Amino acid sequence: MNLSNLPGHPHLAYRGNELFLEDVALSALAKQHGTPLYVYSKGAMLAALQSYQRGFSGRNTQICYAVKANSSLSVIQVFAQAGCGFDIVSGGEIERVLAAGGQADRIIFSGVGKTRSEMRRALDVGIGCFNVESEAELEVLNEVASAMGVRAPVSIRVNPNVDPKTHPYISTGLKSSKFGIPHEQVLPTYQRAAALNGLRVIGIDCHIGSQITQEAPYLEAVERMIDLVQAIEAVGIPIQHIDFGGGLGINYNGETPPDAEQLWKKLLAGLDARGFGQRRLMIEPGRSLVGNAGVCLSEVLYLKPGAQKNFCIIDAAMNDLPRPAMYQAYHQIVPLQSRSATPVTWDVVGPVCESGDWIGHDRALAVQAGDLLAVLSAGAFCMSMASNYNARGRASEVLVTGAQAHLIRQRETIADQMRQEKLL
Ligand code: LLP
Repeated sequence: MNLSNLPGHPHLAYRGNELFLEDVALSALAKQHGTPLYVYSKGAMLAALQSYQRGFSGRNTQICYAVKANSSLSVIQVFAQAGCGFDIVSGGEIERVLAAGGQADRIIFSGVGKTRSEMRRALDVGIGCFNVESEAELEVLNEVASAMGVRAPVSIRVNPNVDPKTHPYISTGLKSSKFGIPHEQVLPTYQRAAALNGLRVIGIDCHIGSQITQEAPYLEAVERMIDLVQAIEAVGIPIQHIDFGGGLGINYNGETPPDAEQLWKKLLAGLDARGFGQRRLMIEPGRSLVGNAGVCLSEVLYLKPGAQKNFCIIDAAMNDLPRPAMYQAYHQIVPLQSRSATPVTWDVVGPVCESGDWIGHDRALAVQAGDLLAVLSAGAFCMSMASNYNARGRASEVLVTGAQAHLIRQRETIADQMRQEKLL
């Protein structure tokens, strides 16, 4: 590993033997706030956003940050201040966006299981669009909106049956998936939507999966979406916006996903060729905006060399970093202060009582108990999927910008965890 630079992590670099995020030494943050600790770079988030913005320059577009990737209030606030809209999937995410200063009319509401009360709240605050995922949902949304005397703005989420070539748990655009309306049923569903008085058809939507590292699935989805838009408009239903979802991957372990700017320039050329380049376009990126903007800092508790495996036991666990256990995901692990000693191969594991509680297998590290490590690519789907398993409190979060560090979430205490419970 080149210790002066970490590929794919432009805001993270060793200066001497100290790892810095922007201009902040991470070991100092770990000592000040304790571990496990998530640290995010505002500069890295904005740089990722700017890549999309450059790809879209001169176009009529709305970038809707997918809140599920990291729903911490300050992270949402960074994107709200940068002019983003938001893709949300629950009533909780609506409230988070509003609390962080996001604009209601730039919210789009995705998800297969919206409840009536979530629909009511979304209509009350005036969200921009519902991405409807089934015919049954369309009928319920029509009822809810009609009872409130309003028309709900809708787009239909299409399942384009494109293989995103990613992990099966995060593929969403295949026929076998629970998401969206199958390609062949899209036209009759639009005709039904257009006939309902509580609805106002404004767009079309798709999202084919996550951690996509090739451009081909996107090119295919664009072609299928345009075919559908032409068919829907041919029966007299105008489509104001096309939403291509999120899904662009990041570099966890040497993957080389397309750069957002280059990808969108290419997709827009395809849209131009079919006469749709000036249509309003929306996208819903999550991981690619925050994933490599964050790290999770952890302390080595014990080294446990063994006959078959050497274990490096750290104080972060599957409740903080669920992706390895859930998707066999790879996250790079590096020391905060590099040592010159010869590396040894370790399985890096957490304290949770499950064999599935591993963070990295077979990692070459020169470490001692008490050392601090950074688990990289921890900005997306780590804190937002964290749990209290083993009665572990969720970690603190810090956001850095330049040489400044802001504590954006305090460590959860045991009192916080027990607050909602009652003894018999
Ligand atoms: N839009 C919709 C409708 C989605 O379902 C998702 C992600 C996104 C946008 C954002 O996709 P992104 O740009 O982040 O790929 N927990 C998994 C990822 C689950 C993704 C769910 N949907 C993981 O840690 O890999």
